[in-house]
Amino acid sequence: MSAREQWGTRTGFVLATIGSAVGLGNIWRFAYVAGDNGGGVFLIVYLAFILLIGLPLVIAELSMGRRAQGDAVAAFSVTAPGDTGRWRLAGWLAVLGAALILSYYAVIAGWALGYGVGAATGTLWTAAAAGYGGYFRAFIGGGVEPVLWQAAMLAAAALVVAGGVQGGIERVNRWLMPTLAAIIVGLAIYAVSLPGSGAGVRFLLAPDWSAFGRPEVYAAALGQAFFSLGVGMAVFATYGSYLPRGFALPASAAAIVAGDTLFAVVAGLAIFPAVFAFGLDPAAGPELAFITLPQIFLAMPGGRIVGTLFFLLLTAAALTSMVSLLEVPVAVAIRRLGATRRTATVAATAAIFLLGLPSALGFGLLAHIRIGGYGILDAVDAAVSNLLLPAGGLAIALFVGWRIERAVALREADLGGTRAGAVWLWLLRVAVPTAIALILLRSALA
Ligand code: PFF
Repeated sequence: MSAREQWGTRTGFVLATIGSAVGLGNIWRFAYVAGDNGGGVFLIVYLAFILLIGLPLVIAELSMGRRAQGDAVAAFSVTAPGDTGRWRLAGWLAVLGAALILSYYAVIAGWALGYGVGAATGTLWTAAAAGYGGYFRAFIGGGVEPVLWQAAMLAAAALVVAGGVQGGIERVNRWLMPTLAAIIVGLAIYAVSLPGSGAGVRFLLAPDWSAFGRPEVYAAALGQAFFSLGVGMAVFATYGSYLPRGFALPASAAAIVAGDTLFAVVAGLAIFPAVFAFGLDPAAGPELAFITLPQIFLAMPGGRIVGTLFFLLLTAAALTSMVSLLEVPVAVAIRRLGATRRTATVAATAAIFLLGLPSALGFGLLAHIRIGGYGILDAVDAAVSNLLLPAGGLAIALFVGWRIERAVALREADLGGTRAGAVWLWLLRVAVPTAIALILLRSALA
């Protein structure tokens, strides 16, 4: 067997994992979920979950991957005596989960690309006469058009993944992520400088304490923490498998988690001040980015440039997350089927495209199909964020916390013999599973 691929540099690895974490979740999803759940209170619960549940899981998932030096399934293999291989099932489920997420994620990324191109060429601005609500619904319900944008985004992700770990994934993230950070900071500074923006800043940063009593805030914050970090679907296990020993995992995980969280907060500071400055509703739901924001861009000075930047940023952020999701099944196909990287990429991309067609067509041709009151795409998104990702996180916590030998788990996470290690293991063993189980149970009963 030829030598496994590896990251070129530590910075390259950290930027690629931040590229995976930062995506539609930080901009489109964070803004609308925070908006729907009271802003400031949501942010506090969210930050607590990121720190107490997200960070320990990211460390655990990276360590599983680096230890196995293989794909998602290998990450769940135990080398101890008595291993029945049952845990590997969790690895396979994560691979299917990653493919399922990518299938509908590509559809939304396609909308962002379509809007970005429309903003740059001007068609987005001339369409405003009918109102952006009508524009958005016609756009996503428009038969082949959303499918073409979805295909374009998948093709772009496939190109990057086919380029390999260093030549494709690492290279693209190394220049894209710093650029995206600069753009989002610029957009936030501009939004905060608008007259009347203060109410938006307060909405995000000043909690209305009464919302703490609302149980749905906790479920929403947990789902958002999992989605935004992208933990639980073996992406970090796969990226971690390309790490040589000697990159300290806890420091890398802290950088990833901090980068992802900062990006979401700064994106919130780019969006809510503008929403309040123009007197619009922060709780517009998933349509916030596609209906409310274009209206604002149209009205604000320099809005066409700001709007174009915003949608291209959203597209690029989505692309680097898509790349990481695609790498999960591709790595499995390379390792288990002996496929070349190129063949594995083409086959996985084609399968995921087909899997995503119902989501892409769910607002037009298939709009009559409703699942639990949701359209197809929203139903898949809810199942993924509220069930699949937390379940994947639970599997990781139980596997590293209880199945792997304590000393091995600590050593593999670079936490052996430290106080932090003891806290980490306790969180994985007790706190994380309890919190996930409680919230899963609560949403099952609701
Ligand atoms: N974290 C990505 C985002 O915030 O958009 C989405 C994501 C990536 C979810 C990877 C799940 C995953 F495994």
